[in-house]
Amino acid sequence: MKIWAHRGCSQRYPENTLSAFQKAADLQELAGIELDIQLTKDGKLVVIHDERVDRTTNGTGELSSFSLKELKKLEIDAGRGQIERIPTMEEVFDLLGDKLRNHKLKLNIELKNSICPYTGMEEKIVDMVHNRGVQDSIVYSSFYAKSLEKIKILDSDARLGILDVKVSDCLYKLKGGCGADALHPFGKALDLATEELEGYTVRAWFTGHLYPEKSTGAKLDLDKLKKQGITDVFLNEPERYASEHWLRN
Ligand code: G3P
Ligand code: CA
Repeated sequence: MKIWAHRGCSQRYPENTLSAFQKAADLQELAGIELDIQLTKDGKLVVIHDERVDRTTNGTGELSSFSLKELKKLEIDAGRGQIERIPTMEEVFDLLGDKLRNHKLKLNIELKNSICPYTGMEEKIVDMVHNRGVQDSIVYSSFYAKSLEKIKILDSDARLGILDVKVSDCLYKLKGGCGADALHPFGKALDLATEELEGYTVRAWFTGHLYPEKSTGAKLDLDKLKKQGITDVFLNEPERYASEHWLRN
């Protein structure tokens, strides 16, 4: 089972921030880091999950109504009096670029474009990834199959994970020709038999920011998930699974 840090180490650090990414990058055995991108009013790629800034910052309003300069004024409460800012994608590459180029880590860039279409986002992120020379370590994902199709046209070697809730819907979209080579379903919506998933990379996510370990303290049974055909999991608290799982496997 490969373990990814979902929005960074987002249980202990604010999600989708440089501190959450740094902590994840420090974990020796981690497969990669997942993050979410959107576009500011002035067309800059920034890392944030929601289409509004309200939940994660002290601001209010649609992300797309802020310029980068305006967005950078917003504060993310990191606890103990510490403040963080919404990172740009360039800042994330400044932080992780070396590890990505040296194949020590992968980065799953989720394009959050199902609600806001964000015209031109695919070109911007593919250009940036290539300018940074990190293309071999990137997995792009989206719920929006047409967006992945566009990325594949821009970069025929791009690795793509198609997102949906049910794994059967992921497979349906993959077979529809969006260019995806991996399925990214909700981990509790595996409505296909393990045999039907054989040969596929299946990276499972759980319930948004209320991951099982966050809401109840319960832990996922990674061995059971593996038997169901899941090859990778996105976890808010990968560090909690590290010692026992990575020592065992
Ligand atoms: O990419 C997996 C997962 O992050 C999808 O759901 O809402 O956490 O972005 P969400
Ligand atoms: Ca995501």
